[in-house]
Amino acid sequence: MKVADRPLEGKVALVTGAACRIGRSVSLRLGRLGARVAVHYKTSAAEAFETAELCGGKSFQADLEDFSAIGQLFEEVESSLGPLDLFVNNAGRYREVDILKVTEEDWDFIHNVNLKAAFFCCQEAAKRMRDRGGRIVILSSLGATRPWTQHAPYCASKAGVAMLTRVLAKGLAPKITVNSVAPGVIHFENDMSPHVEHLVAVTPMRRPGCGEDIAEAVCGFFTGSSFITGQILAVDGGLSQRA
Ligand SMILES: NC(=O)c1ccc[n+]([C@@H]2O[C@H](COP(=O)([O-])OP(=O)(O)OC[C@H]3O[C@@H](n4cnc5c(N)ncnc54)[C@H](OP(=O)(O)O)[C@@H]3O)[C@@H](O)[C@H]2O)c1
Repeated sequence: MKVADRPLEGKVALVTGAACRIGRSVSLRLGRLGARVAVHYKTSAAEAFETAELCGGKSFQADLEDFSAIGQLFEEVESSLGPLDLFVNNAGRYREVDILKVTEEDWDFIHNVNLKAAFFCCQEAAKRMRDRGGRIVILSSLGATRPWTQHAPYCASKAGVAMLTRVLAKGLAPKITVNSVAPGVIHFENDMSPHVEHLVAVTPMRRPGCGEDIAEAVCGFFTGSSFITGQILAVDGGLSQRA
């Protein structure tokens, strides 16, 4: 394979929540582009091991709700693979709850991972990239800008991620770029619920997205211009353009 086909040759990348679904697609693409990939997981050990094998990387376990586990994860990755160049904050949680029924536990369940861990993972990545430089991509969501009434904590957490992207981009420049990918409907199961079917029907591109759609966008921020930072890229088949 030509060097141009492997623009991330030798780069060390960490992807959180990378065992399955979007994180797996991102890891596989990073591997194909030449990166040495740290495949992080919490509970999906077998899937993470398989993903790591497929992308030529290595799997690492950590519960990102445990603050001390975050520093430990980055330490283990660097000891094993070398200094970190690329970080993808992908791990996330999603739970449907009616506004009047949201409990403190529901709120913490979502925010502890989607926003708190996201911030401290990016902080940890930035501490390690500040001298050599690096690039960070955070997974946001269409829910950051759309008020989904059954997902108030989720929407609020992803709106927080959008601001995190901007503030980190400004604060960590010029050594580190920080961008965000906001997926629309990304479908992995065989069957679609009526709600998902409806969303796909009103998506201008007339199909659900797949993991590879998101992986291509994430890796675009790693292989493209280092002059792009603080941006939030919707990868949603045009769904966010609907009135
Ligand atoms: N799928 C979509 O349609 C869609 C749409 C918009 C935005 N997004 C965003 O894109 C990202 C990936 O989406 P997805 O659907 O592929 O995600 P997902 O399957 O719901 O979650 C990804 C991984 O996050 C990990 N995770 C959850 N809690 C954790 C914790 N406490 N510590 C460490 N890891 C934890 C889990 O790892 P283990 O399995 O190892 O426990 C899980 O496999 C998320 O940030 C999501 O919000 C997805």
